[in-house]
Amino acid sequence: MTSKRLTVFASGTGSNFISLHQSVQKGIIPATITAFITDKPGCSARSYAKEHNITDYVLRPADFDSHDGYVKKLLSVLEEETPDLILLAGYLKKIPDEVIRRYPKKILNIHPSLLPLYGGKGWYGHKVHHAVIENGDIESGCTIHYVTEVYDDGPIIAQRKVPVFPEDHPDSLAKRVLKEEHTLYTEVVKRLLEQS
Ligand code: GRF
Repeated sequence: MTSKRLTVFASGTGSNFISLHQSVQKGIIPATITAFITDKPGCSARSYAKEHNITDYVLRPADFDSHDGYVKKLLSVLEEETPDLILLAGYLKKIPDEVIRRYPKKILNIHPSLLPLYGGKGWYGHKVHHAVIENGDIESGCTIHYVTEVYDDGPIIAQRKVPVFPEDHPDSLAKRVLKEEHTLYTEVVKRLLEQS
């Protein structure tokens, strides 16, 4: 068992989380996913974490009396987990600034567009792919970046492009982009861990 530790945050389906976990299991990513954190207790990503004995935490700001209480809990969970990298994989809540400042260049996010295009608050999911098609773009893709205090604005680590075809609809484009997300996330995490 390797000593590198990963914490994954997700709120939805978790296909990126699953793909990262499979890369760990295959020995491609030299690490262990030691913790899964979500704000959506019923999400499929959490079911996957449970099925694979990955420690899961449900942390919802609304369950705390104050923002400070929520941040304190999040920081204490991370303090305990000692992650080498924190990977956001379809996590819809904003990571509190205090956490971002505590883990500089340790928190990564994946976004389904070629940032800085179609990024920022409110730009996620099919809204992105719909806008790409509406604007007649001929290419789209995905971006992995460091998380800073501004949504989708941190330094870009890697991008991968895909073509947009005239017959595309948001579902077909999302599928093409997601396929690239899975391989790119694994490649980036592997590279960063090997460099650290
Ligand atoms: C992906 O498109 C990712 O870029 C974005 O949220 C989506 C998550 O998909 N941040 P999944 O839950 O990993 O399938």
